[in-house]
Amino acid sequence: MTQGAKDPQRVNYRAVPDESGHFGPYGGKFVPETLMPALEELEEAYLQARSDPDFLAELAYLQRTYVGRPTPITYARRLSEHLGGAQIYLKREDLAHTGAHKINNALGQALLMKRKMGKTRIVAETGAGQHGVATATAAALLGIECVVYMGTVDMARQEPNVFRMRLLGTEVRGVDSGSRTLKDAINEAIRDWVTNVRTTHYLLGSALGPHPYPAMVRDFQSVIGQEALQQMLDSQDGPGRLPDVIVACVGGGSNAIGIFHPFLEYEQVRLIGVEAGGLGIESGQHAARFADPKLGRLGVLQGTKSYVLQDEDGQIALTHSISAGLDYASVGPEHAWLRDLGRSEYTYCTDEQAMAGFKALCELEGIIPALESAHAIGHVLKLAPQMDKDQIILVNLSGRGDKDLGTVMKELK
Ligand SMILES: Cc1ncc(COP(=O)(O)O)c(C=O)c1O
Repeated sequence: MTQGAKDPQRVNYRAVPDESGHFGPYGGKFVPETLMPALEELEEAYLQARSDPDFLAELAYLQRTYVGRPTPITYARRLSEHLGGAQIYLKREDLAHTGAHKINNALGQALLMKRKMGKTRIVAETGAGQHGVATATAAALLGIECVVYMGTVDMARQEPNVFRMRLLGTEVRGVDSGSRTLKDAINEAIRDWVTNVRTTHYLLGSALGPHPYPAMVRDFQSVIGQEALQQMLDSQDGPGRLPDVIVACVGGGSNAIGIFHPFLEYEQVRLIGVEAGGLGIESGQHAARFADPKLGRLGVLQGTKSYVLQDEDGQIALTHSISAGLDYASVGPEHAWLRDLGRSEYTYCTDEQAMAGFKALCELEGIIPALESAHAIGHVLKLAPQMDKDQIILVNLSGRGDKDLGTVMKELK
């Protein structure tokens, strides 16, 4: 196979979701009747925008001049030498404005709403706070009123991001129900949306939720993989060839699907998603939807059908992760589909392994990663030594760790 050539297509990865929003048995639109018109309006706007050269040019302009795209790839020389196996490259989403990949989607949706939908208000939910900051940023840039819902547990562990959102002119509403984390914040955001649907767009933060969100968020995040593909094939700043493996952490699944998607037809590239193993799978205190057959089963959560962590009665299980952004009971439906096809694989890192990844990147590369991204690095610590020196791993470094310093400080005491 020549470098950069695509394998003959085995599966048409571009044919999903179908018109009803399904990725095989996953996905769909499980929402109250009152939200159906809003989803249809959103789908129409998104389909129009996808083929509107003016919209795409404006988005590309903002990505270049405001977000700072393209983000570079960095060769992690010392980490590669330290592990003594594969050569490791990092796709630097931590260098995007606001410090994570979340801005790609937030800006895309906010622009869509402003240019195509005539709505005046955004509601959003956030776990790590990174999506909330990205949404608040896009809202400030485009002059849109914004309310962000956040579980009070997450508000406490991501305090700097709460402050940031408020500085940006967004109202942050604490959610004190349930486990007081992301899933409860999503419930409240949806409740607000149902009530104010005529004026309000729900800016969902990951490749989740009812159709068309999983496809739309994937498309806005695919800029990561499109750039990475070119950058890897470039022999001046990159290795001049495709990676053998791509590794990305998986919360809802948006940074992973964003980097995976443009590589799907290159079947020789292994795609690995890393979930949050928390305190270990046996402990039940994790957010590894694929790794725990006891808790992770087919179910519907927040409008879409996918793998959901649930108890025997189908009640949503409480999750745990050191990283707020991976601490979620469900996973994007496209990941479930790709996994069934064998096109992508999923593994997990425990809190402890993620902390080892975090420290390694700090000490060996001078990069402080987000705890979410540290899960991807944690897996690379195991994977790279098993690979040959002429093999290549590309890691999606989804965000920077400033927001996590409080958590890390407690952890390392
Ligand atoms: C830096 C970072 N990486 C990853 C994630 C996980 O989300 P996703 O799986 O949608 O990329 C988050 C979520 O907040 C995040 O802030």
